[in-house]
Amino acid sequence: MDAIRIRGGRRLAGNIQVSGAKNAALPILCATLLADGPSLLRNTPALRDIDTTAALLRFLGCEVMVDKETHEVRVPTTKLTRAEAPYELVKQMRASVLVLGPLLARNGRAKVSLPGGCAIGARPIDQHLKGLEAMGATIKLERGYVIADGPTSPGGSGGGRLRGAEIAFDLPTVTGTENLMMAAALAKGRTTMWNCAREPEVEELGRVLNKMGARVEGAGTDVIKIEGVEQLAPFDHAIIADRIEGGTYMIAGAAVDGSDVRVDGIILEDLEALVLKMRQAGVQIERDGPGVRVRREGPLKPVNVTTAPHPGFPTDMQAQFMVLMTRARGESVMTETIFENRFMHVPELQRMGAHIEIHGRSAVVHGQDKLEGASVMATDLRASASLVIAGLFAEGETEVRRVYHLDRGYEKMEQRLSAVGADCERVKGAEG
Ligand code: EPU
Repeated sequence: MDAIRIRGGRRLAGNIQVSGAKNAALPILCATLLADGPSLLRNTPALRDIDTTAALLRFLGCEVMVDKETHEVRVPTTKLTRAEAPYELVKQMRASVLVLGPLLARNGRAKVSLPGGCAIGARPIDQHLKGLEAMGATIKLERGYVIADGPTSPGGSGGGRLRGAEIAFDLPTVTGTENLMMAAALAKGRTTMWNCAREPEVEELGRVLNKMGARVEGAGTDVIKIEGVEQLAPFDHAIIADRIEGGTYMIAGAAVDGSDVRVDGIILEDLEALVLKMRQAGVQIERDGPGVRVRREGPLKPVNVTTAPHPGFPTDMQAQFMVLMTRARGESVMTETIFENRFMHVPELQRMGAHIEIHGRSAVVHGQDKLEGASVMATDLRASASLVIAGLFAEGETEVRRVYHLDRGYEKMEQRLSAVGADCERVKGAEG
């Protein structure tokens, strides 16, 4: 298993280009199932999660060509030979559940493995299932699989077209909102969904569905209205920039003393909560041509953060922000409200000498001048990124092991950081 080895303390200077958004690309790839190809996704990040989704679409019978150089994914045909997402693929990536809505809408039936728990928490999909039931689907859970059938026509069998419905989510869920948007796009009649997730990636899916001929209004707000249509057309779309990848590099620039980086391609409006907190901590952030320039002159000030659904502070930035706060002069509190087990970076940061205590859903960070390099390991994507940032300013050498987590969501992170002056490299086949 690969590792990333970092020798800390090198200032970062220069431009870092962000990739297309992983969490926008995944539902958009699944949306190709709603029409008969050929669709083209541009600015798709070259990531393991994209490969997993491509493998899933191929398993269903689609043709998928992933070009990592041009960042294009072509889906020439979406003829379905199966309507099943098997455990082997879903266990690699929970977002595989995003095929449930499109398969049911297009095919009238779907069988998708339950994703089960994962490192960051239990992560149920009850809201996805309740929404599909409201649209007339029959849902059965059998041997770890969700088996969904379209409504039964009078005197006929199941497998019919979904019906528009009124759906109120008990809590905002990103993939839940996306799954139901895709299902509703081909349903008969109007669907209104309340308490929807407002993430930019949901808005982006709405844009793509509308390009396909869907009638979606309000994506990116908490109420989404969809007038179902009978057929959708394939699309050509360039994916928006990855705000979480961009935010991660912004924090890297702020964390290492004397750095001056410009993160290019980022949409600053999508990161308002992060920008506000970073500015409160004393980081200078300003627009600069195609990017955002990040610098810090004085010491960091402690700032408390509570994660919340968008436009609140993203849970996907909590680990990275915590690392920044290990350098602040004073005490700060990070409270995680979205996932119950998202402090897995804490014991690893402690190995690097950080003073952090966990009290339930909050972590109290006692800032200090320095961390010390160590051999660390993360068990989720954003935690891994936070450990790389810690390694950039820690004294001595840090080895972040099991970087396959990192590779799920950051394209060539070590190369992008080296290009702006970091002393880091990938060590192939390092000890897990
Ligand atoms: N939830 C339920 N029932 C459901 C669905 C969700 O109780 O049916 C709960 C979850 O357990 C969680 C909360 O609702 O407590 C929010 O979860 P959500 O469904 O919004 O998360 P998700 O859609 O599974 C997406 C991103 C995650 C990101 C979260 C929160 C994708 C593919 N994944 O997950 O991204 O952390 O939203 O913003 O879009 C990552 O990229 O590292 C990552 C984990």
